[in-house]
Amino acid sequence: MSPLSAARAALRVYAAGAAVVLAQLLRRCLGGFAEPVFPPQPDRVAIVTGGTDGIGYATARQLARLGMHVIIAGNNDSKAQDVVRRLKEETSNDKVEFLYCDLASLTSIRQFVQKFKKKKIPLHVLVNNAAVMMVPQRKTRDGFEEHFGLNYLGHFVLTNLLLDSLKAAGRPGRTARVVTVSSATHYVGELRLRDLHGSRCYSPHGAYAQSKLALVLFTYHLQRLLAAQGSPVTANVADPGVVDTDLYRHVFWGTRLIQKMLGWWAFKSL
Ligand SMILES: NC(=O)c1ccc[n+]([C@@H]2O[C@H](COP(=O)([O-])OP(=O)(O)OC[C@H]3O[C@@H](n4cnc5c(N)ncnc54)[C@H](OP(=O)(O)O)[C@@H]3O)[C@@H](O)[C@H]2O)c1
Repeated sequence: MSPLSAARAALRVYAAGAAVVLAQLLRRCLGGFAEPVFPPQPDRVAIVTGGTDGIGYATARQLARLGMHVIIAGNNDSKAQDVVRRLKEETSNDKVEFLYCDLASLTSIRQFVQKFKKKKIPLHVLVNNAAVMMVPQRKTRDGFEEHFGLNYLGHFVLTNLLLDSLKAAGRPGRTARVVTVSSATHYVGELRLRDLHGSRCYSPHGAYAQSKLALVLFTYHLQRLLAAQGSPVTANVADPGVVDTDLYRHVFWGTRLIQKMLGWWAFKSL
């Protein structure tokens, strides 16, 4: 990617973000978003990647409130212990636990799946949520560019290794689900098939948007395959909107300033 295309990628990502913020504000003026009411689901098991913070934490809390057995997959042991304790307190649900899974390491993902399968419990919901955004050029343990390796490849491998458990737990009319968290930046993302790792000219914006586009394409393809097999599993992809979380720690300082000053109003809150 040339410096000019890197600048274009940054502008496109910020334009996508601004469009989402405007849509959120408009929606709020028109009455806002009514939170759906779900029935209790005490017999179901969910894995949430990156459930130690932000949207993953809020998701784990909501699933635990419904009575689900929630397994948080994350790479921060010490933070996780506190998170699990808080979730149990906030939801009065003791079936919340943490299993180590560093999505930037294929070995760690395989070990996580082995540990999960040893528990001999079903799996009804897999939430592929964890991500990094616009980090400086870095590599995962396996040598992949971090956005591509962690956001996309990590979840691609995790989903494939857990698909047999999801298929075994799903029932017609009560399917098991893969829910992958993407972003509106996928609209402006491009797959750079000749330079997936941005080794020629790295753009953190282009790399993030590429990883989110890859997740959308993966989900669409997986859903097509599952439907063709008549499988009791659905693959879904969601955009949470612009939410006030720590994900923005690496973005352009002007955006961080806007988040600090106006995030409480313009961004969604957890
Ligand atoms: N916030 C937004 O406005 C927004 C907009 C569109 C899409 N999204 C998407 O929403 C999802 C959640 O984002 P967020 O805003 O909640 O971000 P966040 O607050 O930064 O949370 C990210 C989570 O991912 C975990 N994580 C990071 N690296 C990991 C690794 N190597 N292995 C396992 N877990 C790892 C983090 O763990 P630690 O707790 O240890 O840091 C954290 O729990 C992401 O997929 C993001 O792309 C967010």
